Amino acid sequence: MKPLKRIFVVGGELSTFIGKGHPDFVWKKHPDFGKRENPSLEDYLSQAINGALEKTGVDAEAIDRGFVGNFAGELFNSQGHLGAMAVRANEKLVGKPFTRLEGACASGGLAILSAMDALHAGSDVVMAVGAEVQTTVSAREGAGYLARASHWEEERSIDEFTFPAMFARRAKHYKEAFGVTDEDIAHVTVKAYENANKNPKAHMSKVSWDLESASTPGDRNPAFLGNEELKPHLKVSDCSQVSDGGAAVILATEEGLKKLGKKPEDCIEVLAYAQATSPLGQVKDYTVLDNTKMAADQVYADAGITPEQVQVAEVHDCFAVTELLMYEALGFAEKGKGAELARAGETGLTGKIPVNTGGGLLAFGHPVGATGVKQLLEIYRQMKGQCGDYQLAERPEIGLTANMGGDDRTTVCIALKDV
Ligand code: ACO
Repeated sequence: MKPLKRIFVVGGELSTFIGKGHPDFVWKKHPDFGKRENPSLEDYLSQAINGALEKTGVDAEAIDRGFVGNFAGELFNSQGHLGAMAVRANEKLVGKPFTRLEGACASGGLAILSAMDALHAGSDVVMAVGAEVQTTVSAREGAGYLARASHWEEERSIDEFTFPAMFARRAKHYKEAFGVTDEDIAHVTVKAYENANKNPKAHMSKVSWDLESASTPGDRNPAFLGNEELKPHLKVSDCSQVSDGGAAVILATEEGLKKLGKKPEDCIEVLAYAQATSPLGQVKDYTVLDNTKMAADQVYADAGITPEQVQVAEVHDCFAVTELLMYEALGFAEKGKGAELARAGETGLTGKIPVNTGGGLLAFGHPVGATGVKQLLEIYRQMKGQCGDYQLAERPEIGLTANMGGDDRTTVCIALKDV
């Protein structure tokens, strides 16, 4: 929808995203093993909330309502009731209405949407926060938890790594339909890691992939699925990370900005937002993200912009092939032509439509509930020139986010403009 009153993103903060492959992440062979623990879900909520308040100079007292995106705290951390957990972060938040939202990997996007709905309903200053801690169990066990975002009864059995297998299925169909190769898909991976290597907050800031290794299965890059039909279509390098982290943003109306003593020029503005939801287990065409396309088409229509006008995008690259499908669903490339866009380098930092400038889910990381919130914050940071080594040469004026849950079953798209 087009906001009924002007909505501004005041700013926010995110933690470093960590997990296996990040130097700060403590695991069995780490020199700090037994000496310190990795941060908890509560730590990430607190870091994000207090970091956002500090970064924006907003007093917690000014926050009218808060919305928390998290997918599976009960499973990974034995912790639910996260609205009440979030307000532990700051004593000035005690008593304020904080509510948790869940829509699988789009939980963060839903927290932002609910925050904007609250602004329409009369609030002036709101916060959306997202956090997830997934490294409490092995990747294999965690895959079973993440599989709760599929239709469990009908889809869990596809593979123990259910989501990697579901997107291997999309890769298989996409490659067969359009003659796309593993090397085409690997261009997305290489770009993601190159960007993350410029981003000190990224999970994979110190890991790199060259085109040949990312295109080829091998010891370092196993094709790890058990499902024999799908196994050839997905390697470790194609997958987003099992990350821990948190992110928070503050949004306000014009009235809210006055209360905060801020000007619209300090902020970016929401042009339009949309959510689309499709039935679990009923993907009609594996070569298209049709749910995302519905949300994107709505956002373009409501914002009054075209895909050609978008100068920076944060898209949900849960797997490398998903980013190619996103290019097509968002109108950056025609059907079947996403790979050409990647191959030509047009979605890199110097291309015509830079996508996932900080490394995306593949390499910035994917702490599920935090991802949608991080996407919005990344657009803000690019527009305000805060991205350091991965800052675009020309600050973008129009940006787009696409945060997707499950196998393209819930999508949140937001169109943004620098003020
Ligand atoms: N040869 C053969 N097989 C191997 C090798 C090798 N050299 N190395 C590993 N494997 C296999 C093993 O079977 C291993 O499983 P096991 O150790 O439990 O038996 C499996 O690969 C994974 O290896 P791990 O060492 O556990 O891998 P890691 O911890 O680095 O995780 C992985 C990699 C599995 C790709 C993980 O990052 C992942 O699951 N990513 C996707 C996360 C996800 O699905 N998120 C949700 C997205 S959906 C959405 O957003 C809409």
